[in-house]
Amino acid sequence: MDAESAHQKVLGWAGNWPKTTSALYFGGRPPKSAHTQFLGRDVPSPVGLAAGLDKDGEALLVWERLGFGHIEVGTVTPRPQPGNDKPRVFRLKKDEALINWMGFPSSGAVSVAERLTRQRDRGDWPSIPVGFNLGKNKDTPGEGAADDYALAASSLAGLADYFTVNVSSPNTPGLRALQVVSSLKPIVEATLSEAQNKPVLLKISPDLNGDLLKEAVDLAVECGLAGIIATNTTVQRPVVASEAYDRGGFSGAPLHAISRGVVDQVLAHSAGRIEVIGVGGVDSAEKARGLLEAGCSAVQLYSGLVFKGPGLIQTINRGL
Ligand code: FNR
Repeated sequence: MDAESAHQKVLGWAGNWPKTTSALYFGGRPPKSAHTQFLGRDVPSPVGLAAGLDKDGEALLVWERLGFGHIEVGTVTPRPQPGNDKPRVFRLKKDEALINWMGFPSSGAVSVAERLTRQRDRGDWPSIPVGFNLGKNKDTPGEGAADDYALAASSLAGLADYFTVNVSSPNTPGLRALQVVSSLKPIVEATLSEAQNKPVLLKISPDLNGDLLKEAVDLAVECGLAGIIATNTTVQRPVVASEAYDRGGFSGAPLHAISRGVVDQVLAHSAGRIEVIGVGGVDSAEKARGLLEAGCSAVQLYSGLVFKGPGLIQTINRGL
């Protein structure tokens, strides 16, 4: 089965799975020793679900039962859009890596908000923080980007525990150019204005370096953002794959060294002025601990779950 079909099948199944069954299968709650703080809240684990795995928020309850400490839904775009043509997700099994050029398939912020509001009002809502990762529609020009982020934030503000401004995915043409401060500032300000005082984070690319990276961190601090998520997928190819895909974002184990380097730059430059969340190739307690001990307040993962399976989060929580 191709990677995306497998993903959709498991996601649909997970979304319909009775709560008790999933708790029995995957070992229940994280141990007390894994408990920590995330964005000012007590959470059972420093390990969060990275954006992109549950783009529309279809299986929220399952993520909590796998042992995650927070969930990042999205990327959600303001209007619905199909994303790029399939196939668009590929597994490099030997390297435990993925390449994807999904291009933000999304049900759209209004539809996600309506469905999840009904779910919350039924009482089927996780007790861990749920954040929404926001992006712009493909057909919105760069000049209109700030309005897209504001629109998506205003639709979801009633549900969100935090927002993430995503300007770092490589699969929406021109998106990463918005990491330049002159473009980023209006997007950040527009998101803050609609966020109803919920914390707003900025997610950056592992391909951002030097002055551009420092300027983005300074902007985040000056605007009062709550944190930086480092990093998204890379356009670099850290391994020579048998199938050399020349487009898309690379994630998984070989990304770890690259994103770790960017995390270290962000930590050094921010010097405690803002929370840093480390993402990229986290697939063991050792890698998670390395990021936490370096100064990250949390970590997130996606690809590790694909290759190590649903027990990974409990393994990390216990290892920590
Ligand atoms: C992603 N990622 C991602 N990030 C984001 O901010 N918005 C998104 O919509 C997506 N979509 C997405 C799809 C697929 C198939 C993958 C593999 C990844 C990036 C993800 O959140 C994370 O930053 C990177 O994958 C690095 O972490 P891992 O996967 O190495 O743990």
